[in-house]
Amino acid sequence: MGGLLGFMYRQLSFTPKPLPQEINLSGKTAIVTGGNVGLGLESAKQLASRGLSRVILAVRTPSKGEAAKQEIIRESPSCDVQVWQLDQESYDSMRAFGERAQTLDRLDIVILCAGVKLLEFTKSNSGHEMNVQVNHLGTALLSLLLLDPLQQTAKKKGTPSRLTIVTSEVHFWTEFKEKNAPDTLARMDEPDSFGQGMDRYNSSKLLNVLWLRELNSKTGSDVIINGVNPGLCASSLHRSDTTPGIGTFNTVFAWTPAQGGHCLVDAAVRHPDNRGAYISEQKVKQ
Ligand SMILES: NC(=O)c1ccc[n+]([C@@H]2O[C@H](COP(=O)([O-])OP(=O)(O)OC[C@H]3O[C@@H](n4cnc5c(N)ncnc54)[C@H](OP(=O)(O)O)[C@@H]3O)[C@@H](O)[C@H]2O)c1
Repeated sequence: MGGLLGFMYRQLSFTPKPLPQEINLSGKTAIVTGGNVGLGLESAKQLASRGLSRVILAVRTPSKGEAAKQEIIRESPSCDVQVWQLDQESYDSMRAFGERAQTLDRLDIVILCAGVKLLEFTKSNSGHEMNVQVNHLGTALLSLLLLDPLQQTAKKKGTPSRLTIVTSEVHFWTEFKEKNAPDTLARMDEPDSFGQGMDRYNSSKLLNVLWLRELNSKTGSDVIINGVNPGLCASSLHRSDTTPGIGTFNTVFAWTPAQGGHCLVDAAVRHPDNRGAYISEQKVKQ
């Protein structure tokens, strides 16, 4: 069942499950973008709780990252939690982050989770529309910058590394009219292309899916690349959404950030035989 009704049914009928206790991530290193809050923080916590040796919280504001680090260490004192600065509006920041990642002795798991949901046209510091910049362009560039350390680790350890991109069910809901423009990206930077409500956010999440499929088709077997829908979760993502009734809708239908985290770590750790896949409710879907 597609559309809004199907979405509401799935939110009410499915309960995301935590990773099985027997999963042991000891020795492994993970990077989680947007790791200071919401689903990113929950994912980092849950990976740490399964013995992960090191997690790097990629965050825009280091002080927020330090607070998240303390939260993770309280529950998993043996995990080496590091806070690295990353701003997905800045190509310099992303390149510096990528160079720093090259210095790691290993990189096993990457969850690209940072994102925004803006319902008003906003230009980012890069000159591109903000949903497109942070959710798609930033995520795409980081996936390229982190591919080499992931591949090197896979070769050294003899087991594939994991790259997981956080998308959303709403990617089904956009018409993505800009695809017909001579230059799609340039069109998305024009305010009159922005559309109503969540449409641009939805398009940015469709771009996540198209990107991860394309990247997967061009990447060898060393890295398992999949996309995940965390489901609707009560997080600060929705803070600038003033749609009438949105608060009540989220109270009725949203999962907790921890449940969203269950979906992210499931996609990042399990499903070893799926590549370029869209994982929703912890299952591979079309
Ligand atoms: N929550 C949902 O219902 C839902 C549903 C489907 C998909 N998702 C996806 O799940 C992901 C995480 O969302 P969430 O619910 O956890 O939202 P959230 O609580 O608002 O977290 C978003 C994270 O992204 C970071 N971020 C925003 N702009 C950034 C930038 N320019 N550079 C670096 N980091 C930046 C934020 O940093 P600051 O704290 O500094 O702002 C924060 O850490 C997003 O990709 C979202 O699209 C969420």
